[in-house]
Amino acid sequence: MTKSILALIALATSAYAQNAVIASPSAGSTLRKGQSFTVEIARPEFPAPSKDVSVVIGLQTCVLTDGSNSTDCSVLTQTFGFLLYSGDYTPTGHPDAPQGTFEDYQNFTFTVPTNIPTGQAQVKAAHLYLTGAGFIPVLEQFNVTVNVVN
Ligand SMILES: *[C@@H]1O[C@H](CO)[C@@H](O)[C@H](O)[C@H]1NC(C)=O
Ligand SMILES: *[C@@H]1O[C@H](CO)[C@@H](O)[C@H](O)[C@H]1NC(C)=O
Ligand SMILES: *[C@@H]1O[C@H](CO)[C@@H](O)[C@H](O)[C@H]1NC(C)=O
Repeated sequence: MTKSILALIALATSAYAQNAVIASPSAGSTLRKGQSFTVEIARPEFPAPSKDVSVVIGLQTCVLTDGSNSTDCSVLTQTFGFLLYSGDYTPTGHPDAPQGTFEDYQNFTFTVPTNIPTGQAQVKAAHLYLTGAGFIPVLEQFNVTVNVVN
């Protein structure tokens, strides 16, 4: 492959970079055990032929296992803790979204597990999509920190 083709591919990849977000819950939200909560995965406008594939959503406690009830989300790695969802991601348009922002989203509703420790936790998501005319697979991961209460 020539350098110019590689450069084109790099350009195409960055042009279609998605940077989806967890639009809800917001950082610092309170999740109550046993109650339902909605995870909204949103992404900016997505030009064809790029294609969404799937998302994985998890709830990972930050409570350390030393019995002290202290929390430290910074020590988390790529684990997803309670696996809440893994499957298709088919976001639809958000009529109220200002142009160029997070126009497409999909809501997923879950029950907060009753056996997760109280304290800080992270809602974690991974998003797999195919970008550009060459359908290059990209996996992005993101999270928000929330508080789990009884
Ligand atoms: C940890 O938190 C749980 C639930 O709030 C409580 O029952 C327990 O006593 C706490 N343990 C310590 C060591 O503080
Ligand atoms: C969670 O998101 C923050 C901010 O994007 C990032 O710095 C951190 O590495 C992520 N943590 C994990 C465990 O993925
Ligand atoms: C999706 O979830 C968000 C956050 O809870 C909410 O504001 C929005 O109305 C929901 N959209 C639909 C179509 O249910």
